[in-house]
Amino acid sequence: MTYRTICVLGGTGFVGRHLLDRLARPGRRLRVLTRDAEAHKDVAVLPGVELVETDVHDPATLLRHLAGCDAAVNLVGILNESRRASFEQVHVELARKLAAACRETGVRRLLHMSALNADARAGASAYLRSKGAGEDAVHEAADARLHVTSFRPSVIFGPGDSFLNRFVALARLSPLVLPLACPQARFAPVYVCDVAEAFARALEDPHTYGRRYPLCGPREYTLRELVEYALRTAGVRRIVVGLPDWVSRLEAALLERVPGKPFTRDNYRSLQVPSVCGTENGLSRLGIAPTPLEAVAPLYLGRRTWRERLNRYRRELPLRRLAR
Ligand SMILES: NC(=O)c1ccc[n+]([C@@H]2O[C@H](COP(=O)([O-])OP(=O)(O)OC[C@H]3O[C@@H](n4cnc5c(N)ncnc54)[C@H](OP(=O)(O)O)[C@@H]3O)[C@@H](O)[C@H]2O)c1
Repeated sequence: MTYRTICVLGGTGFVGRHLLDRLARPGRRLRVLTRDAEAHKDVAVLPGVELVETDVHDPATLLRHLAGCDAAVNLVGILNESRRASFEQVHVELARKLAAACRETGVRRLLHMSALNADARAGASAYLRSKGAGEDAVHEAADARLHVTSFRPSVIFGPGDSFLNRFVALARLSPLVLPLACPQARFAPVYVCDVAEAFARALEDPHTYGRRYPLCGPREYTLRELVEYALRTAGVRRIVVGLPDWVSRLEAALLERVPGKPFTRDNYRSLQVPSVCGTENGLSRLGIAPTPLEAVAPLYLGRRTWRERLNRYRRELPLRRLAR
């Protein structure tokens, strides 16, 4: 094993939890930096994980926590800006600070999470331009002692995702009809465990130094196809009504004023570019067969019959008694 102590930023999120699980092995320490250790204390029970509450945006703090690490992973990302966090701070400046801190502390390996269609100059949205600038910043910091690899996934699915699960939750709140903005947006959803596998393989493989890997699932879908599939699988009966383009734009302009910003004009602009890989899928280059959505989604979205619920309850009963 080449890398014994890995510092992970954004390790408490959806991708992070799956990645920690994949990277954990005897003799390896995973130092996970978080803004709120109490909120993520369940992460600390994973084998080898040391959860550290800190301000990752402070360069001195970064230096202190990277000391003694031989690799770093950056998964920090936001979909929308807030008063406390801008795309520039979170996607660009943090990436630059982390790469500089890696160089100063002698960290040899940096894996960075970007996004498909990220492009510092030509990105369709502020999100995609900032992801592109952050990706460029870490690659520019690479030298003979710091080896950088970045990953550019389409939308990621799996247990705990905020994509399919979100539409199912939204549909449960909507009576009869689910209005859907940008129904023709295109995606090639990639399984979170395949993404974690890509990181794990790249970590140890010198052929991946300096590379940028697009990551996609095996099939392309429109957003409408994905939402209808998710609702069918979860057993939620709603009619999905695709909104025309001008209504989608209007909806974005209204919803970005709602607390939590469920949909923004910037999100709308990101959706105008197909999030698909074509023939350039990095998973294949890393020797990973992309997992079909249909093989996994029913396991976490799936509707359960009363008999399945009863069997599950019976299986868990002895454990519940023990826990009392
Ligand atoms: N999920 C997808 O479909 C998808 C698709 C393409 C690209 N990506 C990229 O993949 C990465 C991981 O995505 P995810 O779905 O796992 O995201 P997530 O569940 O929202 O997790 C994001 C992580 O970033 C940290 N974070 C958020 N805001 C921060 C801030 N202002 N300052 C410092 N840390 C902050 C959080 O850590 P703490 O709360 O512990 O501090 C959290 O662990 C992101 O870079 C995202 O852009 C995701």
